[in-house]
Amino acid sequence: MSASHSPFVIPRLQKIGFGGDWNPEQWPQEIWDQDIELMEQANVNLVTLGVFSWAHLEPTPGVFTFDWLDRVLDKCAAAEINVDLATATASPPPWMGHLWPETLPVTDTGVRLSYGARQQYCPSSKIYQEHAVALTEKIASRYANHDAVVMWHVNNEYGAHTPMCWCENSAEAFRSWLQKRHPDLESLNDSWSTAFWSQRFSDWDEIIPPRKTPYFPNPTQQLDFKRFSSDAMLGLFTAERDVIRAVSPSDKPITTNFMRFFPHNDYWEWAKTEDLVSDDWYPDLTDPKSHIEGAAGADLMRSLKDGQPWLLMEQAVSAINWRGINPPKPIGAYRRWSLQQVARGADAILHFQWRASIGGAEKWHSGMLPHAGPRTRTWDEVVSLGAELDSLSPVTGARTHSKIAIVFDWSSWWALELDSRPSTHLSQMKIVLSWYEQVWKDGHSIDFVHPEGNLNDYKVLLVPQLYSVTDEGAQKIIDASDSGASVVIGFFSGATDQNDRVRPGGYPAPWQELLGIWVEEYCPLLSDHTLNLRGLNLDGHIGSATGSQWSEHIHLTDAQPVFTYANGDLEGKPAVTKHEANNAWYISTQLDEQTLQFILRDAIVAAGVDPILGSFPPVGIEVTERRTERESFIFLLNHSDDSSTVLLPPGDWHQLTGDSGELKSVEVPSRDVVVVHTKSGRK
Ligand code: GAL
Repeated sequence: MSASHSPFVIPRLQKIGFGGDWNPEQWPQEIWDQDIELMEQANVNLVTLGVFSWAHLEPTPGVFTFDWLDRVLDKCAAAEINVDLATATASPPPWMGHLWPETLPVTDTGVRLSYGARQQYCPSSKIYQEHAVALTEKIASRYANHDAVVMWHVNNEYGAHTPMCWCENSAEAFRSWLQKRHPDLESLNDSWSTAFWSQRFSDWDEIIPPRKTPYFPNPTQQLDFKRFSSDAMLGLFTAERDVIRAVSPSDKPITTNFMRFFPHNDYWEWAKTEDLVSDDWYPDLTDPKSHIEGAAGADLMRSLKDGQPWLLMEQAVSAINWRGINPPKPIGAYRRWSLQQVARGADAILHFQWRASIGGAEKWHSGMLPHAGPRTRTWDEVVSLGAELDSLSPVTGARTHSKIAIVFDWSSWWALELDSRPSTHLSQMKIVLSWYEQVWKDGHSIDFVHPEGNLNDYKVLLVPQLYSVTDEGAQKIIDASDSGASVVIGFFSGATDQNDRVRPGGYPAPWQELLGIWVEEYCPLLSDHTLNLRGLNLDGHIGSATGSQWSEHIHLTDAQPVFTYANGDLEGKPAVTKHEANNAWYISTQLDEQTLQFILRDAIVAAGVDPILGSFPPVGIEVTERRTERESFIFLLNHSDDSSTVLLPPGDWHQLTGDSGELKSVEVPSRDVVVVHTKSGRK
């Protein structure tokens, strides 16, 4: 059975995974048996081994020491603890940087970074590549048929610390990458607009990565370098993947852990190359909305492979060690935030790390087993979550069916946030999350979709920010509208093409007909500047709203104004518009939350899409649904301080654990999570 045909993303596990990174090489062997015993107590069924073991597996170049890993894996097999085996290539040992300094990455100012931390490799270094592949070959051939190994973990968080390298090897690799994209130098000169500032290239060898320059480097050069860098890292992944695939049984899936809204890797491209998506998530405890970002990131991970369940590869049980101040997670948050990820498609909850280290840079990062051992609140919470996830086994493999999608693209994100824009204060993620939040509050299932993806699967397309778009992506949005989808497009979208060349003739050039408007001028607002808007509010009366960050001088052709600017130079001109016949809205400013929610609701209602519960959930309640062929599961997560009664949709609902009778409504205590299920088919 191949991994992709099974509803279970880890075919040899077939239940929700629970466990984390286990680093036995940091500990004397006596501890290993204790670890296994405690793992059994906590229902741990999946551990990741070897992520940072390179120096222990290959202490000097070409000399391998696998005996310790043999023993650890045999112990896991005996205890029936499954292993996600890493290729150990994330942190080259000191010998590599010492013998081959050219493997070390170089910054845009020409500084070569040193070894002594981790991830100090240039993705274009042939020496690093050869050693990484050789180590992977050794590991894969030795352990591919080991009973304990159920999946493969390639490298670790590619690009987390050194997403780009500006060295000479990288320059050469960048040129080769460009030569595949451009038939000749003229085409590159044209795409990069090198007629500007005398930047025209006369020879391929003149092309270099965008190193530190006196003024803004060429924007398309920067953009292509970001694309190249994502591809260069991806090349490292696929090289190791191919080595494993050649020797491993096909029901042992291969993954590398993502970092959800990570700005440097285009995960749409990456996800195509791996068997399953896995991801690391470390919420910022100082952000009161981190649970909303937590939901959005999980939805993105689920969407990357068309709704396939994914694995939360890493999270902290409690404190981390790498922000300024690192308090423990508030009581209850560990469970609720873990279940939130399951609610949104995760089929494993794994952690960094199993046992908290006592030395090294991460000794103040929590582990499932804290420094104080099992007599702790953390340990109790771990044991209780392990048991709860075991009882949630029926959810494994279940999918989410969403009729609403947010269009999201890394290339556009990169282009938006380059220098030399009308405003460098715009943040792709802030805009996207502000839209996501409004739909999340209303209890809808939400997917993310690439602009050139299957847009026709959705009844509502939300395009919060898509600064640049290809012709194909632009057309797909029009096609989706032609097929009846509601479309809402946000400010400064469709402004440029994939080369960051302006689409002239009034903005947003590709969608003027769809939206029934054209924009004469972009008018970004200063940071502390808010504009008043006037329009029909929720109850149909003239009401007020505000806009910040941005405004635009809009001309109407076939659209109606929904809100107009009420002060400033744009007074009386449209701020939010609707093309009635196309069900297409345009939002030219960052709306206040309530008004944004109102507009998005309007678009969703127009498309005939109901919230999961059939009605909006009480404030603070997050609602998700996952379905198998036989069963539907609704997760109700209460993020508020008050208990809430939630009305369930029609159906024969029961609580998943405990033995409740048939439920019409359910009480969700403050900070708690309730899962209900039904076998009556839901559409
Ligand atoms: C991740 C990394 C882990 C560990 C963790 C600490 O980025 O993959 O190895 O460092 O952060 O939060």
